Amino acid sequence: MLKIEGLSKRFVGADKTVTAIDGIHLEVSSGEFVTMVGPSGCGKSTILNILSGLMTPTLGSVTVNGVPLKGVTRDIGYVTQQANLMPWRTLIDNVSFPLEVSGVKTAERQSRARDLIKLVGLAGFEHAYPDQLSGGMRQRANIIRTMIYEPKVILMDEPFGPLDAQTRVVLQDLLLSLWSRAKSTILFITHDLQEAIGLGDRVVLLSARPGRIASIEHVPLPRPRDVFKIHDSPDFRALFDKLWLELEKQVRTE
Ligand SMILES: Nc1ncnc2c1ncn2[C@@H]1O[C@H](COP(=O)(O)OP(=O)(O)OP(=O)(O)O)[C@@H](O)[C@H]1O
Ligand SMILES: [Mg+2]
Repeated sequence: MLKIEGLSKRFVGADKTVTAIDGIHLEVSSGEFVTMVGPSGCGKSTILNILSGLMTPTLGSVTVNGVPLKGVTRDIGYVTQQANLMPWRTLIDNVSFPLEVSGVKTAERQSRARDLIKLVGLAGFEHAYPDQLSGGMRQRANIIRTMIYEPKVILMDEPFGPLDAQTRVVLQDLLLSLWSRAKSTILFITHDLQEAIGLGDRVVLLSARPGRIASIEHVPLPRPRDVFKIHDSPDFRALFDKLWLELEKQVRTE
């Protein structure tokens, strides 16, 4: 589905040049949920900026179902850490906005938005403005605003970063149920190793900058998963300890 080959990015500035990522190879299958962890500044957001079509790589290529990626496309959705909802639009008008852009009729886009809003527990807030919602509610809206137009691939850059621990787990659980329903392919970045293991089919660990793939681990936990209880599993603990050691190595070499 998503094939990344030899991806590198160098930022050339007036006084210094930074190599953010160097030679990233990764293949993500259709319907797979891949999570990515790595030290701060190792180029995680740079990878997603390239995959979303917003940034061009210095070297390397990206193909989606065999077609080379050229700029922004509706096949790839991008959920960022900041919800960036339009403050002058209500929840339902924010969520249905991508359908408005693609010319879907009002009745249909309102009904699709209403279904998703209900699914993520925001029924009753359809006509609230973003500043009347909590951070967790805004992030739910941010996610369904991307899912509503059913992109084949969804990129997520620490979408639960600013949230408290309980809200994070609630939204992780919600994301897993949205994903199993939509059957989308997800590449999800997080700082949180627990989250990476709890959500992913595979966890990709990146090295300190320049970001290279340090290791890729298959997560041996069955689905559907209960993210509230997953930490009790011995398989979870074993993988956590293994990845933690490697992550520590990368953080210390920064
Ligand atoms: N547009 C840009 N121009 C110049 N340098 C950039 C640009 N974007 C990123 N960088 C540099 O590339 C490196 C990687 O940045 P990036 O934001 O991808 O890291 P990250 O892994 O997402 O970090 P964090 O975990 O803190 O979000 C950093 O050194 C950063 O300064
Ligand atoms: Mg980042």
